[in-house]
Amino acid sequence: MPKELQIPDRETALLLDELKKTIDIAGDVVEFGCYEGDTSILLAGELRDMPDKWLYLYDSFEGLPAKTAEDNSADGWRFQQGELKASPDTVRHKFKKYALPEPVITKGWFNELTDNDLPSQISFALLDGDFYESIKTSLALVSPKMNTGGIIVVHDYRNARLPGSNKAVSEFLASHSDEYTLRIVATMAVLVKQ
Ligand SMILES: C[S@@+](CC[C@H](N)C(=O)[O-])C[C@H]1O[C@@H](n2cnc3c(N)ncnc32)[C@H](O)[C@@H]1O
Repeated sequence: MPKELQIPDRETALLLDELKKTIDIAGDVVEFGCYEGDTSILLAGELRDMPDKWLYLYDSFEGLPAKTAEDNSADGWRFQQGELKASPDTVRHKFKKYALPEPVITKGWFNELTDNDLPSQISFALLDGDFYESIKTSLALVSPKMNTGGIIVVHDYRNARLPGSNKAVSEFLASHSDEYTLRIVATMAVLVKQ
């Protein structure tokens, strides 16, 4: 049976459309929660002809952290701590297999990352950490680095199984309403920096 993609094909196409809109914006591209790199290689494919943009990938590579109360849903048995464990080597091999430039891979929990672990300017960010604290933390890390016209895509914004993503985005927008506009594309929140 083919492996289930974390971001299905129909959403990936929409995601890449958003990335293409930021091609002329200065800054690098980041993905928080890269898992095995299936979406990362598609982002990298779009960046192939842009030697001035680097791809930065972040993941615990220990799987999901523990849920908090904000993540509780009727599907409570899903998405357990330690699920979705991957390895940086799996990601590296995938990039080699498709002859893509090696990304900058950082292994660590998002709340242990500092400003110095991120590029100085960001044009496009994909946040796919599933849980409230993971999305909240990654928004706080990327937001100060976003250039005008840059885009943050948050996956699972409209996914009842993962309510923490919506809550983290809603809280973020409440305190950054003059800085970002919100569009909803499939299950994703698309935040455009003004
Ligand atoms: C849904 S998967 C990402 C899927 C990937 N974006 C793709 O499209 O294939 C979620 C990933 O986020 C990582 N993750 C979630 N919360 C995290 C946190 N707080 N710190 C580090 N990694 C985290 C998990 O380890 C997991 O690999």
